[in-house]
Amino acid sequence: MKKPWAGRFTEKTEKIVEGFTSSISFDKRLYECDIDGSIAHTKMLGKQKIISRREMELIIRGLDKVREEIRNNKFKFRDELEDIHMNIEHALIKKIGSAGGKLHTARSRNDQTALDLRLFMREEISSILKLITSFQRVLLDIAERHVDTLMPGYTHLQRAQPVLLAHHLLAYLEMLERDKARFNDCLKRVNVMPLGSAALAGTTLPVDRKYVAGLLKFPAISGNSMDAVSDRDFVIEFLSASGLLMAHLSRLAEELVLWSSAEFGFIELPDAYSTGSSIMPQKKNPDVPELIRGKTGRVFGSLIAMLTVLKGLPLSYNRDLQEDKEPVFDAVDTVKSCLSVLIKMLTEIKFKINVLKNAADAGFSTATDIAEYLVRKGIPFRNAHEAAGRIVRYCICKNKTLAGLSLKEFKGFSKLIERDIFKCLTVRESVNKKTSYGGTSKKNVLAALKKFKKLLK
Ligand code: ARG
Repeated sequence: MKKPWAGRFTEKTEKIVEGFTSSISFDKRLYECDIDGSIAHTKMLGKQKIISRREMELIIRGLDKVREEIRNNKFKFRDELEDIHMNIEHALIKKIGSAGGKLHTARSRNDQTALDLRLFMREEISSILKLITSFQRVLLDIAERHVDTLMPGYTHLQRAQPVLLAHHLLAYLEMLERDKARFNDCLKRVNVMPLGSAALAGTTLPVDRKYVAGLLKFPAISGNSMDAVSDRDFVIEFLSASGLLMAHLSRLAEELVLWSSAEFGFIELPDAYSTGSSIMPQKKNPDVPELIRGKTGRVFGSLIAMLTVLKGLPLSYNRDLQEDKEPVFDAVDTVKSCLSVLIKMLTEIKFKINVLKNAADAGFSTATDIAEYLVRKGIPFRNAHEAAGRIVRYCICKNKTLAGLSLKEFKGFSKLIERDIFKCLTVRESVNKKTSYGGTSKKNVLAALKKFKKLLK
């Protein structure tokens, strides 16, 4: 098959080179965007009288037919035509004849491929944003049902201080809110129209770039043709936002894995979202959260891949940039599938309220409250910390709980301790006294839930 660029060449391309340079196996995914972009470009060429009205109509009708064929799986993609752009153009020329050869006027694949990817990512970012919001709604829903559920809060994975389960879940709502902000911010840079930059220098033909941008609903056009064909910052920003989102999902996934273990026993994963072992009959494994944790690596990998592709490239377009698509596709698919499965699975998870409460009670988790009690009585925090530490050591030796000590025993550690100490010892009291802004008191948690309810409406 004759290449669109064959004019200058005397030898045929080696088969192995065709296979090596071809991107059609993956960039065919961009066909809708490619055709949308081509139709807008054609309308502009017609409006500017660079092509005739009849040619414009012929091309548009031809492109619509190609689109239908691809949608209905009737299109034969050819490796030797390299990429989606040349496959579609070739099919168009076969359909409508020489008028089809005018589509590529005042355009290069360099600005075309940048346009296609931006169109694609714009859509995908919107659907990722919607999925994050749905996921936040699921978390909010669970949090609302657990405004009274106590659990241990951890540092160093050691029981630290009691918190409300709702407070723990609200932490993820905050992370996801920042993730959305990052995607929204990146969207501003994705939403810039590069077409009309041509190969790298612009074109001598009287194009109207703003008109094309208007047709494709781009709020901005690129300001420098060389930058426009070689910029992939927007890809890196997207992959970075995706990486952080995955890091957040992975942290939650890790907690689900831990919490579903016999050692924690905080949750029961739904059977429908767990798998068994081929040898150990008793096993119920948390494969879904494990895979979310595991898939995080490939998104990080995509980010590093693109940073590496870009770092050594002289201006402007270089074929290395063709490597931009697979990392984007893979990140999009990974992020969307992880969010989708988490949304469904999380609604089915059962929290074992009693186990959570007992774990919160254990481990002297209100020792800090005793120290703060002594601070309120005027003792410097360092001394109060020391006294509370001695109380804990005493309990460990005597095999007692903090609430199990008598006032007399308490007084042995500080004369300032009175009967009201007993109000500081229960986990419920401890939680409800954490009224500092952002703390875990029920009052704060209810306010945070209200904030997110409004935000996610
Ligand atoms: N398939 C190419 C890509 O994705 C299209 C641009 C090719 N341009 C070129 N000068 N060979 O980057």
